[in-house]
Amino acid sequence: MFASLSLGLAILPFVVAKIHDVQVGGANGLLEYSPEALSAAVGDQVVFHFNPKNHTVSQSAFANPCGLKDGGFHSGFMPVAANTSVDTRPTFTVTVNDTQPVWVYCAQAAGTAASHCGQGMVFSINCPSGDAPNSFDNFKKAAKAIGASLVAAAASASSPAAGGGGYGGYGGGAATPAATAPYGDVTLPPAPSATVVTVPITLDSTSVWTTVYTSFANSPAATPAAAEGVVHTIKVGGVANGSPQLFFDPDHIAAAPRDTVVFQFLPKNHSVVQSSFADPCRQLNANNASAPLGAASPFFPVTANATEFPTWNFTVNDTAPQWFFCQQAAPASHCGAGMVFAINAVDASPRNFSAYQSLAKQLNGTKLSASASGSGAGAAPTGGALSLRVGSGASAMLTLLAIGAALL
Ligand SMILES: *[C@@H]1O[C@H](CO)[C@@H](O)[C@H](O)[C@H]1NC(C)=O
Ligand SMILES: *[C@@H]1O[C@H](CO)[C@@H](O)[C@H](O)[C@H]1NC(C)=O
Ligand SMILES: *[C@@H]1O[C@H](CO)[C@@H](O)[C@H](O)[C@H]1NC(C)=O
Ligand SMILES: *[C@@H]1O[C@H](CO)[C@@H](O)[C@H](O)[C@H]1NC(C)=O
Ligand SMILES: *[C@@H]1O[C@H](CO)[C@@H](O)[C@H](O)[C@H]1NC(C)=O
Ligand SMILES: *[C@@H]1O[C@H](CO)[C@@H](O)[C@H](O)[C@H]1NC(C)=O
Ligand SMILES: *[C@@H]1O[C@H](CO)[C@@H](O)[C@H](O)[C@H]1NC(C)=O
Ligand SMILES: *[C@@H]1O[C@H](CO)[C@@H](O)[C@H](O)[C@H]1NC(C)=O
Ligand SMILES: *[C@@H]1O[C@H](CO)[C@@H](O)[C@H](O)[C@H]1NC(C)=O
Ligand SMILES: *[C@@H]1O[C@H](CO)[C@@H](O)[C@H](O)[C@H]1NC(C)=O
Repeated sequence: MFASLSLGLAILPFVVAKIHDVQVGGANGLLEYSPEALSAAVGDQVVFHFNPKNHTVSQSAFANPCGLKDGGFHSGFMPVAANTSVDTRPTFTVTVNDTQPVWVYCAQAAGTAASHCGQGMVFSINCPSGDAPNSFDNFKKAAKAIGASLVAAAASASSPAAGGGGYGGYGGGAATPAATAPYGDVTLPPAPSATVVTVPITLDSTSVWTTVYTSFANSPAATPAAAEGVVHTIKVGGVANGSPQLFFDPDHIAAAPRDTVVFQFLPKNHSVVQSSFADPCRQLNANNASAPLGAASPFFPVTANATEFPTWNFTVNDTAPQWFFCQQAAPASHCGAGMVFAINAVDASPRNFSAYQSLAKQLNGTKLSASASGSGAGAAPTGGALSLRVGSGASAMLTLLAIGAALL
């Protein structure tokens, strides 16, 4: 009978099979399996737990990390809404039949710049460790190389020089599902699946450099208008006809890497603080000690009779949309009144500037009506009248197409 031990499956009923749990999709929509590799004995079961987003567990081969293996297993797409409770999320179970390496990838957005596999969403059972040629690291590297070439192909297809252009879609098949804001009962439009790529940029025959930028399906090309960058001046606040102007002018711009945004502070007491689309009125990463805090200017109190206006500069380094707000909260949240600003918001997407502005009003606008008067120098309204501005028209598509990259 001992001879049958080597037959693998034959011993299945006689040993205690182990269960290995794997999370599919990380916190905050991270594109990963966790753990991303494990060892399992014959007869063990690997149970994949699908977290929010829309992933798969699909078997590939080492030589072709992002393609379905002939006869390989495939969970199918498992869309999971952000508010699905953990115990009702779907699972998919794979039984380990032998000790050969098993290679797995997520098939979402396959063949496009937003490919989850191309962004490194891969997994393995019983892969050789260390510096074996078919180690997990090499498998993941190969997957990411496929992703980089898909992104490069998409970037050249949508660059103005290529005559393509336009934001035909938003993230292709890869946009994340709508999510719920971190507070308040508000639904966030889907975010594109972005990836960071490194490509050579040619501005003219004399300006060639390597750029690192955030790319997503249909993201603009990474070519700035001029090597020395452009200066954009933004008026912050001010008073017109006795009413405080709780807005930035202009309130959103397209800017290329190397550009400088000069914020010029007009009367009243305002600031400019970087935030995120999902949490418009809080400093970026204020709740995340492991990520760099968003940029923030001090408050600039400016008297009504001032003739010189202080400025604060922000250097643009990325093509990804960047979001800002005025942090003044006395006597009422300026951000909640819609005093927000954006660089490179994509007009023709659900995450456009006016979506951001209305999110700010929905999430932080409640205090506004509660306290309509105040007298501080920083104060917003002294009467009822607020001068608010609702989203201005779309920036020219061509301008948006020129945005594109973070130069390092
Ligand atoms: C999740 O949110 C959607 C839309 O916001 C809603 O229709 C659905 O009922 C919610 N499900 C649960 C379990 O709360
Ligand atoms: C093991 O065999 C079962 C039954 O044929 C199959 O469904 C499963 O995908 C196999 N597991 C692996 C890792 O190939
Ligand atoms: C999940 O992704 C697949 C493939 O992109 C798509 O066909 C399907 O509609 C998506 N499901 C949901 C609910 O988004
Ligand atoms: C916006 O609201 C959140 C949640 O109530 C709060 O933490 C944050 O400080 C507010 N931001 C401003 C600028 O009022
Ligand atoms: C915090 O920031 C780090 C580094 O950018 C990131 O990996 C992590 O997911 C963030 N955590 C949260 C809870 O946002
Ligand atoms: C501006 O007005 C303030 C009072 O509001 C006054 O103290 C100050 O002297 C004035 N400055 C100038 C330059 O007129
Ligand atoms: C801000 O940028 C402008 C335009 O490039 C420049 O003239 C000014 O010196 C900069 N200010 C600071 C403090 O760097
Ligand atoms: C952009 O890069 C410059 C130069 O490396 C740096 O001084 C600046 O702080 C960066 N800006 C942002 C917003 O990260
Ligand atoms: C702007 O965003 C809003 C909210 O997501 C959306 O309803 C609207 O269609 C978007 N505009 C464009 C041009 O996509
Ligand atoms: C400007 O506003 C900030 C934040 O509300 C406050 O701390 C500061 O005292 C104000 N400055 C003046 C001169 O009112």
